[in-house]
Amino acid sequence: MEYFPIIQALCRSALSSPSNAVLHQVERLRIALEKDGHDKEAKSIGGLLLHADRTSDMAPSRIQRSTKVLAGEELSTKTAIPVDKETSTPLAEIVFPNDLPSDSPIFSGTVASAVESILNEWKNFEKLEEIEAQPSRSCLIFGAPGTGKTHLAMWIAKEINIPVVLVRLDGLMSSFLGTTSRNIGNLFAFVNKYRCILLLDEFDAIAKLRNDPQEVGEIKRVVNTLLQSLDSRKKTGFTIGVTNHEALLDPAIWRRFDVQIEIPKPSSEVIASIIQKFVTPLEFDDVQLKFLSWSIEGASGADAENLAKWLKKSSVLNTNQTLFSLVRKFATLNSGRVSLERRNLFTLLSDEDLANVLINDKKLSFKQKDIVPLIGTTASTLSRKISKSKLF
Ligand SMILES: Nc1ncnc2c1ncn2[C@@H]1O[C@H](COP(=O)(O)OP(=O)(O)OP(=O)(O)O)[C@@H](O)[C@H]1O
Ligand SMILES: [Mg+2]
Repeated sequence: MEYFPIIQALCRSALSSPSNAVLHQVERLRIALEKDGHDKEAKSIGGLLLHADRTSDMAPSRIQRSTKVLAGEELSTKTAIPVDKETSTPLAEIVFPNDLPSDSPIFSGTVASAVESILNEWKNFEKLEEIEAQPSRSCLIFGAPGTGKTHLAMWIAKEINIPVVLVRLDGLMSSFLGTTSRNIGNLFAFVNKYRCILLLDEFDAIAKLRNDPQEVGEIKRVVNTLLQSLDSRKKTGFTIGVTNHEALLDPAIWRRFDVQIEIPKPSSEVIASIIQKFVTPLEFDDVQLKFLSWSIEGASGADAENLAKWLKKSSVLNTNQTLFSLVRKFATLNSGRVSLERRNLFTLLSDEDLANVLINDKKLSFKQKDIVPLIGTTASTLSRKISKSKLF
């Protein structure tokens, strides 16, 4: 059998984390081989199946492990999602693990290790159980827009391998406050019935309600319903709240969350890593990455992703342009993403003046020779031009 080693390798890797479907298909293959008289090959596949059975007994898959901590019925694509009675719009969206992001967002050391410690609790809940402890069951993620909060929440769910019931809180708000309370009640009754992670995105929407002086009593009732509903999940589920406006949240709501993680604006090193991630398969060297993150200093991860994707497109459309001129163009097209100070540099300065600014920025510690490829000139021309530059 010419391709058997490849088939065998495929089966081995599929069986490293076997689902029932994989086990079934590999067993079908074993029976077919046996039927056609390929006894040796059938036996080898049988051996892999036996081994897979044993290893999955010894090391339960993430799904099996999490079944123990999170009880409830399994969600399926056919599960009926509760709807707003007035408008018939669904109150939530179900995202299954296959559709959750498998790449973690990029954070600096302290944030990354805080996130890791939450995941660690879930991965080691048996150890916690032995000492009658529990993993954190609720987490509030807050910070500036576009810093990867929603991505982080979805990725945590992917790691725990459980479907997400994604709720945008403003979607629960009805024009009738009575209906809002009912929506909250129906939604929590739904999530408490199923094994899932509840993701309350844009959680601050509830706080905006308080601005309406006409409805004080009713608003209190809505907030109380939410507090009681959050309490109702304490023992059963895992809840993640995400917000940009943490200051708007009631202290009573804060207290409902076991852990609270602030996602800061990314450092220039993190921006450089995000750019490299989204620019792949293109590659930038350290100087190029430093220059690019300097260009959008103060920006969010989402802005860095945007710049990277734009550069990727431009590498095909504007093949002969230098990085200097591409970034100038990006700055002009993205007033909201590039600070006014940087934009002024990019739009007002000549290449040699801009080169001078970079060389004199202590944080960058660029030498003249570093700038040469960015500006697309020779070392001697740059040196001559810089000596004529009026800056510095
Ligand atoms: N630190 C990061 N690492 C990798 N990608 C990031 C990071 N920050 C943002 N992104 C990317 O930017 C985009 C927006 O991220 P996301 O929606 O998670 O941000 P957010 O903080 O929830 O924003 P908002 O507050 O506006 O809802 C996503 O494509 C995400 O992958
Ligand atoms: Mg978000």
